[in-house]
Amino acid sequence: MDERLFRDVIGRFASGVTVISTRSGGTDLGTTASAVSSLSMEPPMLLICMNRSSETGQAIAAEKRFVVNILGEDQAEIAQRFAVKGKDKFTGITIERGDSQLPRIAQALAHLECSVAETAEGGTHLVFLSLVEHARAREGTPLTYYRGQFGRFEETAQEAAYRSLRQRVLNRDLGAGEALDVDQLADELDLERPRVQYALIKLNADGLVERDPDAGWVVTPLEERRAKEAVEVRCMIQTAVAEQVAGNLREPQLAELRAHASAAIDAAARQPLDLEALRIAGRNFHEAFISLAENATLLDVYRRLRIDAIWLRMARGRYARPDYLRTLTDAIETGDVPGAAAALRRHADEVIQMLGETLEDAGGPV
Ligand SMILES: Cc1cc2nc3c(=O)[nH]c(=O)nc-3n(C[C@H](O)[C@H](O)[C@H](O)COP(=O)(O)O)c2cc1C
Repeated sequence: MDERLFRDVIGRFASGVTVISTRSGGTDLGTTASAVSSLSMEPPMLLICMNRSSETGQAIAAEKRFVVNILGEDQAEIAQRFAVKGKDKFTGITIERGDSQLPRIAQALAHLECSVAETAEGGTHLVFLSLVEHARAREGTPLTYYRGQFGRFEETAQEAAYRSLRQRVLNRDLGAGEALDVDQLADELDLERPRVQYALIKLNADGLVERDPDAGWVVTPLEERRAKEAVEVRCMIQTAVAEQVAGNLREPQLAELRAHASAAIDAAARQPLDLEALRIAGRNFHEAFISLAENATLLDVYRRLRIDAIWLRMARGRYARPDYLRTLTDAIETGDVPGAAAALRRHADEVIQMLGETLEDAGGPV
């Protein structure tokens, strides 16, 4: 096989881009890598292929631990920086450290912290078959790599249909309970029916539309009682989590909560206000907070409340101040359960009051 031909042909396999990072002898190391693959679900495993000449690869062979940092579409510069040899690749890059002290690139789209289970050899490379021990992602779209070039994901027609319909629901161009005629929408959006169906299924997962036995797809109304109940249930779940974990968190867990709280507070302080960043940072905080209970059912119940949908339908410049996330984190750190419960209660009351105002302004369900 001719090497150049192989390179050209395999280059047509589009991939994401990661920085593999590790720490050895008190020094952080990292390299850009696209030879990363999911390997097994039970147990969760992935593999990475590292050139024997890579210093990062050599450190992983010795330490048996590393982090896969999946880069977002605006991080090509980071990919370039870690694709060269050198000692100071991390200068100016914000890093976080988990329990293991391995460096994670704070702005990455996702992190997977791994321990090497087995090492195989293939040509010039070492293949690390590894167990995934910790994984976390944020919202966003990935940086891609194809035929030697960095790129980004192009939105497909059905993704565009989803965004367009979502915007119509959020702008209230489509009213509460309004039936959505798939044929009519397909005509209006100049799309085939299955693409519109796809958009509706995604909107259903967001909690914005639902299936009515008589009317078919309808816009889910933002109803005061249902929304209030969801906010109350979240408050109860989080109060229970606070009771369980207050005073018992390790520094990396607190650091994660603080990072999400700061992201939310920064988004609220931005001019103009960045509501989307605020929503995502808030959601990341709540998911991280509830995950502290290490109870998958509780997290599932929280997700099914679709608080995000309430937030989205209410928003339009009306939002609860995110400072309480910091108050809550401080209370959790010091083991102040009543303080944490009070912060959660105040926030729930604020949201419920805003809900009432939203529906009053609109003169009924929206
Ligand atoms: C998009 C891209 C993907 C890469 N993928 C890998 C890879 O999967 N494995 C690898 O060993 N090197 C890969 N490299 C090359 C390394 O990043 C490069 O050799 C780096 O200088 C190694 O640095 P180190 O010796 O400090 O670890 C890739 C480079 C780029 C630009």
